[in-house]
Amino acid sequence: PMLQHLTDSRQLSRAWMETELFPLCDSLRNNMGVGKPLAGRALYGLFYEPSFLTRTSFERAMSLMGGQAQFTEDASQFFPVSTSSYVENTIKFLASLHFDVVVLRSNWPGAIAAAAGANALSVINGGSDFDHPTQALLDIYTLRRELGGVDGIRIAVVGRVDHRNVNALLMALTRYENVQVKLVPITGAVNPEVLEYCQDTGVTISQESSLTPFASELDAIYVNGAETALHTQLMLSRDLVNVKIDEELLQRLTPNCVILDPMPRSEPLITCNGDHRLAGYRQAENGLFVRMALLQLLMGSPGPQQTQLGDHAALGFDRIAPWPGK
Ligand code: CP
Repeated sequence: PMLQHLTDSRQLSRAWMETELFPLCDSLRNNMGVGKPLAGRALYGLFYEPSFLTRTSFERAMSLMGGQAQFTEDASQFFPVSTSSYVENTIKFLASLHFDVVVLRSNWPGAIAAAAGANALSVINGGSDFDHPTQALLDIYTLRRELGGVDGIRIAVVGRVDHRNVNALLMALTRYENVQVKLVPITGAVNPEVLEYCQDTGVTISQESSLTPFASELDAIYVNGAETALHTQLMLSRDLVNVKIDEELLQRLTPNCVILDPMPRSEPLITCNGDHRLAGYRQAENGLFVRMALLQLLMGSPGPQQTQLGDHAALGFDRIAPWPGK
């Protein structure tokens, strides 16, 4: 049977999200602590770049479901990632140590494909140079919960727009009807491949220099902040008037507009707190349920026969084969 991987947000179909993943997220939320469906399962986080939210929520998801998670955030010290065969080798070592799934974060463009191509265990893209599919899933799940649905929403994307979080969100939004995106870049420009993909699939995208003129028309704002101290300095060097989320902007938003913050470090773009429209903590919690549900769908219910290395049929991968297209 085919091993299942989540490598690219373009794999995600609306039907799969809406009828399988999100209902399972809701069920896990309502039954916290009930059962250990991943007992005997093991996840390895192979991180070549730092992570706080992705890494911690995968780790927590495994632990809440009775499985085990081990990680390195310093993978380049142990596992060079300069060729496909290095990556393949590493994945095969992890499979021989009886890990069932690897979450891989690497900026090296070929890393995710090489890991999946090793055909040794299930691979989840935990953030690549181009994409971050579990971020897309949790962002869509959050929009759905906060707004009641995603069709027809008007969303502004502010901040660092040449980033995997933004690519992933935009690609996942194409699964919904009549979505309008207003890009308000502070640094960078959206990847042209992503823009073309969105245009081909019906998302309306415009470029803006300020949030103020249309703030009152928005259903959501996605604030993609700085990733490093250097990047924060770069953002601070730009004119942030009319693009940052401050008390003045909050006054212009509707009471139901939701502000998403995918990073745990959105300063200097969000300078207010305590407002119910700031959904960053709820979004992080949603990420936990999304990752729990994804891992359950990938690894299924355990049984004694399923601990055998290489017995992927028993791991339940065939239950969702193949990852559906749109
Ligand atoms: N959103 C996100 O990917 O955060 P981390 O870099 O902390 O994992």
